[in-house]
Amino acid sequence: MQIEDFAQKNTVKKKNFNLNFTISKAPKKAKKLDLHQDISNYLDKNQYSFSEDMQEMIPKDTPPYLDNGEKYVERIARALKFFKQCSLIGPSGTGKTHIVYLVAELAGLPLWEINCGLQTSVFDLFGRYVGLGKENWIDGLIVNWCRDGGILYLDEANMMKQDVATRLNPILDQRGHLVLTEKDNELIHRHEHAYLIISMNPFSSEFAGTKPLNAAMRRRMSVWLNFDYMSVGDKIDEKEIDLVCHRAKVNRDDAEKIVKIGAKLRQEYQQGDLPYGPSVGDLANWAKIVADGTTVEIAAEETIIALTADDFEVQEEVRAIVKRVCGGDKFERKFV
Ligand SMILES: Nc1ncnc2c1ncn2[C@@H]1O[C@H](COP(=O)(O)OP(=O)(O)O)[C@@H](O)[C@H]1O
Ligand SMILES: [Mg+2]
Repeated sequence: MQIEDFAQKNTVKKKNFNLNFTISKAPKKAKKLDLHQDISNYLDKNQYSFSEDMQEMIPKDTPPYLDNGEKYVERIARALKFFKQCSLIGPSGTGKTHIVYLVAELAGLPLWEINCGLQTSVFDLFGRYVGLGKENWIDGLIVNWCRDGGILYLDEANMMKQDVATRLNPILDQRGHLVLTEKDNELIHRHEHAYLIISMNPFSSEFAGTKPLNAAMRRRMSVWLNFDYMSVGDKIDEKEIDLVCHRAKVNRDDAEKIVKIGAKLRQEYQQGDLPYGPSVGDLANWAKIVADGTTVEIAAEETIIALTADDFEVQEEVRAIVKRVCGGDKFERKFV
């Protein structure tokens, strides 16, 4: 996971049930949150409170999210207030998970995170019996969210299995409830502060393995926000260079080269020519090795080149782009 630099796995014991979730944790030197992002007119943390167990699930010290005036944080908060749910679309590495942590932190809401691409079963998500008799029922993660509230974050929602998607439908529309058929049809009403955020890569026929979002779920989502990389192709965002400098403590010239190369790689990825487009986190990791006294080109070998693919030919393509931007590709220069 790319946000590892500020994320940490945790386990909480709840009703004899081990619940794995992820809460955010910033590195010690992280900048303070941008206090201008005030979402209290949409989601006001003073209006609700959660149990001690759930307090621990509210992210803390999430690094600032940089945008170019799109006001993503506020727009997500508005969608949650008006419709209780919101969809985020964008290639991986564009900060979708990051912003969900930030919104949860600013709103003071516990975060329940599920990656739908992983083989999580209906039992894990909705619940199961661990012995005979009603008292041996254990709620799954989605049922816990529905009863207790917070933000449910469904990452890669388009990869969700049909049986899970079908069961979610009644919670997401006016009915706002969940029926536990396994447990004498128990009706669980959606908590007043149970919000849903889904995210996914844009569906594209070039990328093997992606599929469109389940149609019934699509109809139940009102707000769709598109995310893109800060820098792509020839469009370089100065703020991304600043971010790499800040995270890696690298000099600005090297940060600029790294962002320029990253922007080219992303363009190739979006055109379907490379299997991966680097996030700003990936670029910062590369820059950290450079800051330790290596050149951009040499540090690329053990970071960006290896990260993009195992395949030698693909690695050669990445290497050529690195060389071109660093000015070392004589073959290219002859034709300029
Ligand atoms: N606009 C942004 N501002 C700050 N950090 C960002 C931004 N976009 C991406 N990042 C960083 O890039 C990395 C990948 O982001 P992540 O949230 O995991 O992307 P996604 O969920 O879209 O795949 C993280 O280290 C994240 O902090
Ligand atoms: Mg993500």
